[in-house]
Amino acid sequence: MDQIVNKTLLQSTCDSSEDAIAVLNPATNEVLAYIPSVPTEGIVGQIEKSKKAQKAWQERSASERSIILKRWYDLVVENSDDLARIMTLEQGKPLQEAKGEVMYGASFIQWFAEEAKRTYGDTIPSPTSNKRLMTIKQPVGVAAAITPWNFPIAMITRKAAPALAAGCSFIIKPANQTPLSAYAVAELAYQAGVPRDLLIVVNNHSSVSVGDILCTHNDIKKLSFTGSTQVGSHLLKQTAETIKKTSMELGGNAPFIVFDDADIDAAVKGAVASKFRNAGQTCVCANRFYVQETVYDEFVKKFAAAVSEMKVGNGTEPGVEIGPLIDAKAKDSVLSYIETAKSQGAKVILGGEDLGGLFVSPTILTEVTQDMDIVQTELFGPIAPIIRFKDDDELVIKANDTIYGLASYFYTNKLNRAFTIAEKLEYGMVGINEGIISNEVAPFGGVKQSGFGREGAKQGIDEYLNIKYLCFGGF
Ligand code: SIN
Repeated sequence: MDQIVNKTLLQSTCDSSEDAIAVLNPATNEVLAYIPSVPTEGIVGQIEKSKKAQKAWQERSASERSIILKRWYDLVVENSDDLARIMTLEQGKPLQEAKGEVMYGASFIQWFAEEAKRTYGDTIPSPTSNKRLMTIKQPVGVAAAITPWNFPIAMITRKAAPALAAGCSFIIKPANQTPLSAYAVAELAYQAGVPRDLLIVVNNHSSVSVGDILCTHNDIKKLSFTGSTQVGSHLLKQTAETIKKTSMELGGNAPFIVFDDADIDAAVKGAVASKFRNAGQTCVCANRFYVQETVYDEFVKKFAAAVSEMKVGNGTEPGVEIGPLIDAKAKDSVLSYIETAKSQGAKVILGGEDLGGLFVSPTILTEVTQDMDIVQTELFGPIAPIIRFKDDDELVIKANDTIYGLASYFYTNKLNRAFTIAEKLEYGMVGINEGIISNEVAPFGGVKQSGFGREGAKQGIDEYLNIKYLCFGGF
């Protein structure tokens, strides 16, 4: 393992003790390392340091910040194999997929290294001749993020890179299941020239108590959260007390729609990619499939054939495409969703098995109807429920019948249908003839109870900037 990453892990880990947090390998249940649980006073101390560091950082030019971020990007790319290995060990996703996430995560650093130089304000024609009006953009101050275990690097860089580019400092509370990737990627930032107090990683046994501090401390001016709608709603209530700027990337219930004129082979390929990425544990994974009745049998047959070929196992083994679920709670939920769906009349045509450990076989359910619980639940696992539909109007009603509005997907070869359906779907993101839509240049985010704010793209940096209006009088 490379020196930098190896050294990081040694520095950020500690011996087993009452206070230490054990990091487990979900594929083997072995303890990988212990990390320190920072007491709450320690977290408050970190916020104070972060505030000081931010003041100095915002004085540096955008170009200087950009150069440091670019170096961070280079180091992440250089160390991508090691980062991917750490990620697979603590998160479970197959090595190749982990490598993909490292590069995806790096792309946000590269993108925002560039965007640092483009935080333009406006000059505004004045309504009166004796004034001149303009706006400038300034960093919000200390920003904080609570990030999930399903993307241990990309969900950090997608927030930290725009924050640092904007001139903010950044405090990360990574998931206790996957902190090693966070420490490793932060260490590379320090190596690149990011001051240690500017980018701080904190963990505590109680995610709730860290959340409480980050949400209520007056010196934190921005909170970005990726996670469940339930937790997001709680955090929002807490941040209301100190009126923080917030962005929330919350749950999803993505419909994946196959119309009768679709290229079925392409739809199958997109369905496999969208459904089984990270063993189904992403907010944008296809969660329910709607297939038009005239192509239903063909799609189901081809989809089942493709999924039956997928290899489940430890992500470090070659050829594995589906790793373990993150923990026992996740596995119990997935198995219970399958059981409930069966009891409500769904038919398991593939999988549905507990493979031991934290492994569940990829599962396809047919004869699913809109009224079943599985259609309204964010599954976060390798289950594909398939529902038939007759026509476009019925489809739109069913696809929008959810509290969520993050990602959606559909396959059609008709241009008119593509536009009409894309406009009618109540989602922040729509994949048209495409099952994988995330990248650094496009705005990622949801509507309805999937949250608000956009990450990546030209919009992503605005989440960490305040607009200040300047009015020059006396002309
Ligand atoms: C997520 O599931 O939270 C993020 C997925 C992505 O960035 O594609």
